[in-house]
Amino acid sequence: MKLTTAIYPGSFDPITNGHVDVLRRASKLFENIIIAVLENPSKTPSLPVNDRIKLIKDSISDLKNVNVDTFKGLTVDYARKKNAQVLIRGLRAVSDFEHEMQMAQMNKNLYPDLETIFLVPSVENSFLSSSLVKEVSAFGGDISQIVPESVNNYFNRQT
Ligand code: PNS
Repeated sequence: MKLTTAIYPGSFDPITNGHVDVLRRASKLFENIIIAVLENPSKTPSLPVNDRIKLIKDSISDLKNVNVDTFKGLTVDYARKKNAQVLIRGLRAVSDFEHEMQMAQMNKNLYPDLETIFLVPSVENSFLSSSLVKEVSAFGGDISQIVPESVNNYFNRQT
């Protein structure tokens, strides 16, 4: 049985195969998923928000119940506005756990009816992060196996 509307918030700076892995799992579980791209992350984003959105759309065009949007401010306020009942986060390793738990508890405090659900990517996608992708690409490394094709092409055009 599929449940309800879920948001998947993040910086997506850029989207990686890890994010896509989580999204493919989520799209089987929820009726409607909104990828909520934070416009003003505390860490300065490297990619303009429009580029981040385009790369996400190119990467998940086959997932018909997934849409992309941007938000500013608190994730819980955005979730309320969209009548979302679930917040999805990916959990890669133990190192993610403390920060993710802190965010989940704070979000629960702010909006008790919003359920955070953690989805676990497959092992090969568990070591990926957007910052590693940028670092490897900046030094000329091959990122084609760890990001969607559109992201790989985007970074190849920059170098
Ligand atoms: O992809 P990221 O950078 O790990 O995503 C982090 C994100 C965007 C989910 C988090 O920073 C967030 O929710 N920011 C919005 C501001 C907010 O709600 N802060 C309180 C979170 S407890």
